[in-house]
Amino acid sequence: MDKILIVYSTCDGHTRKICRKIKSISENMGNEVELVSIDDLLPVDPGEFDKIVVGASIRYGKHNKKVTEFVVQNRKLLDKKTSAFFSVNVVARKPNRNTPDTNPYLKKFLGRVMWEPDQVAVFAGSIDYRKYRFLDRMMIRLIMYITKGPTNPDTVVDFTNWDQVEEFGKAISEM
Ligand SMILES: Cc1cc2nc3c(=O)[nH]c(=O)nc-3n(C[C@H](O)[C@H](O)[C@H](O)COP(=O)(O)O)c2cc1C
Repeated sequence: MDKILIVYSTCDGHTRKICRKIKSISENMGNEVELVSIDDLLPVDPGEFDKIVVGASIRYGKHNKKVTEFVVQNRKLLDKKTSAFFSVNVVARKPNRNTPDTNPYLKKFLGRVMWEPDQVAVFAGSIDYRKYRFLDRMMIRLIMYITKGPTNPDTVVDFTNWDQVEEFGKAISEM
């Protein structure tokens, strides 16, 4: 049995949903899992865990800067432990942007923080226009228009391949 820490950053809850799935898979495989938002990390000592998983969504081209800070501050620890990272974004709904080698955000992030996690994944996220503020809704609709995605303001769509999340959850338990 391993102690696994999952640290996540989310804006609208989709990354948390993915983390919950990974948590439940890992627990079913006999591990003890703690799921912590990057905003609530203070009372947790990452050094106490066998494995550290970091998951973060993209907003306007970037992961939350607290995620970058967490990785940079804990780089030595992450290198010593077994670790994993995943990014959630809607560019990854495109077949030619949905792997760690082809997703621009993931590649840029890992290159910048100079971290080589044992497992890496990119998941297509979700869109729920009804949740967004006016300007965000307009911006995402424009991006979707340009990239041939859904633009209807009532659209609620989950692009995530949940089988892929399940595979990733199992891989984390097995690594
Ligand atoms: C305001 C806003 C900006 C976004 N910017 C990007 C972006 O630049 N690139 C991208 O691929 N996805 C972008 N997305 C899509 C999100 O990454 C996607 O909705 C994801 O599921 C959000 O996960 P979260 O709920 O965990 O934050 C954006 C979404 C919103 C609402």
